[in-house]
Amino acid sequence: IKHLRSAADLDAETATLILDTAAEMAALSGREVKKLPALRGRTVVNLFYEDSTRTRISFEAAAKRLSADVINFSAKGSSVSKGESLKDTALTLQAMGADAVVIRHSASGAPHRLANWVEGSVVNAGDGTHEHPTQALLDAYTMRSRLGRLDGLRVSIVGDVLHSRVARSNVLLLSTLGAQVTLVGPPTLIPLDVAAALSPSTKVSYDLDSVIPDSDVVMMLRVQTERMQDSYFPSAREYSRRYGLDLPRMRNMPEHAIVMHPGPMNRGMEIAPEVADSPRSTIVEQVANGVSVRMAVLYLLLGGK
Ligand code: CP
Repeated sequence: IKHLRSAADLDAETATLILDTAAEMAALSGREVKKLPALRGRTVVNLFYEDSTRTRISFEAAAKRLSADVINFSAKGSSVSKGESLKDTALTLQAMGADAVVIRHSASGAPHRLANWVEGSVVNAGDGTHEHPTQALLDAYTMRSRLGRLDGLRVSIVGDVLHSRVARSNVLLLSTLGAQVTLVGPPTLIPLDVAAALSPSTKVSYDLDSVIPDSDVVMMLRVQTERMQDSYFPSAREYSRRYGLDLPRMRNMPEHAIVMHPGPMNRGMEIAPEVADSPRSTIVEQVANGVSVRMAVLYLLLGGK
């Protein structure tokens, strides 16, 4: 494939190739190989119109570990503040010889439009409420390395599904790889039509306590209060009581089950601090795995040697 705009761009074979390549990248890093020459002479542009900590830093680290030249572009402080369009910004980057453009944008579909304007590969690093495919890949990688498989795995994705690009990409990718996904949350935050359209096998539940004992993975989502309308959300306290993952709920998970969160977290809202910091939590591991997975994505898209 040339671009990674959606998890739907990946069939099972391609997704598995990315995960296997990421495992090789991680093994090399574990052997103190700090830099690989695979993308020497290539240029990766990180084009971030929305804030990011994890994704931005890990794409930069991934490109640098593959010896690529990296240009970091942030909308803040650029000519975007003077009204320059995404297209004109893209053409400027094209003129500088970008082999890959990694884009985060508040508008759903921005990576698809960008792919029409640049010759290089486009990687979606999160577009509005639409998708975040490399997050889904690093989540799948983390599940596979902790639990040994993805096929048949029972994954519960809990919380603000409505606004979550992470949930959308995870439903698509996990279904492709044979996992059974259940979306859990208040009815106002679970778009049933979206769940069915993404994957007909996706289940929906409004009762977290009934789902927890049958989950191999409990993935908590950030409550995106900045995108929330009052009608969607009763109160932080009520939400936390019904859908927050606290210690008593975590103790009801099967012994082998893991807790995930893509970050950033609202500690004390969707996840209790003691749960986030427990040995069953893979939150820090997910961040570390993100670098290996993004190395694999850049390497495979750019035909690295
Ligand atoms: N998970 C994630 O996308 O985090 P950032 O917004 O910090 O990149």
